[in-house]
Amino acid sequence: MFIVGICGSPRKKATEYVLDKSLEDLKEQGFETEMFTVRGKEINPCRHCDYCLKKKECVMKDDMFDVYDLLRKADGIILASPMYNGSISSQIKAVMDRCRALGAEDINLLKGKIGMSIAVGGDRAGGQELAIQQINTYYILSGIIPVSGGPFGANLGATLWSQDTLEGVKKDEYGFKTLNKTLKRFVEFLNNYRQ
Ligand SMILES: Cc1cc2nc3c(=O)[nH]c(=O)nc-3n(C[C@H](O)[C@H](O)[C@H](O)COP(=O)(O)O)c2cc1C
Repeated sequence: MFIVGICGSPRKKATEYVLDKSLEDLKEQGFETEMFTVRGKEINPCRHCDYCLKKKECVMKDDMFDVYDLLRKADGIILASPMYNGSISSQIKAVMDRCRALGAEDINLLKGKIGMSIAVGGDRAGGQELAIQQINTYYILSGIIPVSGGPFGANLGATLWSQDTLEGVKKDEYGFKTLNKTLKRFVEFLNNYRQ
């Protein structure tokens, strides 16, 4: 099975590190994985021109086309975002909005895929749960099955605290516990519902 991890940070710092570790773990468990980062890429915001509804593809020929290819073949999707003003980054929001073109191509294209989220904030409680809820809303309306780590430790999913540095996130033992619990359930869902 193929897992795509999409990193919504424009930097090679905490969010990318956590996503990279997650994909490494999944690779060790036998999954095929690939990371796409928005860093250095051109991903324009949706213009709501409705070109995609008529032509079944987006009018803006930018790096989002790589994301479309990865999402088409993915069994599992991980959206990872830094916290910006209490929620997701504008970059990861642009990725989600631009997926309107995938829905225009085939309304069921993402249906039944398994999705999890990673939220990394400079503060311990800097909007991670709200960010995950925003990603989950996108998952639900796209037909993607959202997965958290479950009660007793990772209620909504993987919530990490970077203290604004790469070294900070590496020290966040509690955050990595929420990540590991979420990855465990993500794998369970993949094995139960994508086989
Ligand atoms: C514009 C902006 C807004 C931010 N707002 C928040 C916030 O509301 N809550 C928070 O916890 N951290 C906030 N931060 C800090 C980042 O989430 C934090 O440094 C995170 O580790 C960045 O991810 P990265 O290391 O992958 O770049 C903000 C950073 C920026 C640039």
